[in-house]
Amino acid sequence: MLKGALIGCGYIFPRHVRAWAEVPDAELVALCDLDLKKAQRLASRHGIAHTFASIDELLEKKAGELDFVDVAVPPEAHRIVVEKAVSHGINVLCQKPMAHTLEDSLAITRVTELASVTGAVNEMWKWLPAYARAGAMIAAGELGHIERVRFTAECNLLLPRRGEFAFPGVADEDPDVYEELFRRYQPMPRMILLDYGPHILDVLRFWFGEPTALRASVARTHPGVAGDDAVNVTLRYPGFDAEMAIDVSRPGPQVRDNLDAEAVAVRGSKGLLTVMAGKWLEWHPADGESVRISFPQEPRVEAFRNSHQDFVSSLKERRSPQSSMRDSLRTQSLVFAAYESSRRDGSWLSQPSEFASSHPCVE
Ligand SMILES: NC(=O)c1ccc[n+]([C@@H]2O[C@H](COP(=O)([O-])OP(=O)(O)OC[C@H]3O[C@@H](n4cnc5c(N)ncnc54)[C@H](O)[C@@H]3O)[C@@H](O)[C@H]2O)c1
Repeated sequence: MLKGALIGCGYIFPRHVRAWAEVPDAELVALCDLDLKKAQRLASRHGIAHTFASIDELLEKKAGELDFVDVAVPPEAHRIVVEKAVSHGINVLCQKPMAHTLEDSLAITRVTELASVTGAVNEMWKWLPAYARAGAMIAAGELGHIERVRFTAECNLLLPRRGEFAFPGVADEDPDVYEELFRRYQPMPRMILLDYGPHILDVLRFWFGEPTALRASVARTHPGVAGDDAVNVTLRYPGFDAEMAIDVSRPGPQVRDNLDAEAVAVRGSKGLLTVMAGKWLEWHPADGESVRISFPQEPRVEAFRNSHQDFVSSLKERRSPQSSMRDSLRTQSLVFAAYESSRRDGSWLSQPSEFASSHPCVE
């Protein structure tokens, strides 16, 4: 049984603790949070033996027993926490985004590789059942030649919710969650591309590999936030473009009022694949009957479990995890290349997946 500590007991904690409870061969033996009382309360609720108020205390007392740490602290603290854990030879699963700066993303990747431990980023969207199924169909050539891809996430994340517009079958969020999200996003100088963009860019890389070029425009439309809330990115692939559009201050056409507002359309020579809110997938063949496949209403539960499972399996099988630090650095590269393209009025940047390594000083 692999033993781990979960560092950070905030908003995303319930997803992690549930995933660990469902992954065989791994268990949490400690929680760590600057708010020790919160860690103690949660540890007692989930039957976790030890609690610590700092990573230093955790490592001092428990380093010898730990096979891994699961890092769920805010992105600004990822680097210091990862550096300390790997300096004790401990494997790391780190939440996304890997970091808020290019410099920290590179440092996290390098320090993990130098320490010869396994490092992974919890890029769990590729494990959402609908996106995994879409990926399998694309990889099997069921769509034929890809002609056009559009991945949109248009919702009112930054506006008060109006439940009567909620899309049927997609749960709306608690108003308290909205307040908390707004409070958190409001001061960020770089916002939605940095925080939400990696999810979509990682899925596009998972489906289609590395783009040859990228261009982007990044804008702020909501007067109450400091950073970007509307983003358009075009990834160029041989033979087609994949467009990503995120707009979180104006409800989109498909899902007017929900958080889970992602809509995907992949057109191939053999038909059109659509995925809505990660909850259902439709295949419209050029000749033949359309098919709809529905997925669980809480697909993220499965996605977190599968992401954590892949990390544990990679440790046991001594292989690279699917979302290794190096792989995730390529996703981060696309994020920072997109900001840079926008700064250059939307000009094309070539080899954007290598951007972080080749432009370590651009910020
Ligand atoms: N995969 C997803 O869909 C998803 C969704 C939300 C958040 N996240 C990511 O999860 C991570 C945590 O986000 P959150 O929303 O839970 O944050 P949060 O602010 O709600 O909670 C973070 C917790 O970490 C603690 N903390 C901060 N610095 C610490 C340190 N140095 N040592 C120990 N504890 C520390 C805080 O006290 C707090 O309890 C972030 O990286 C975020 O981007 C991912």
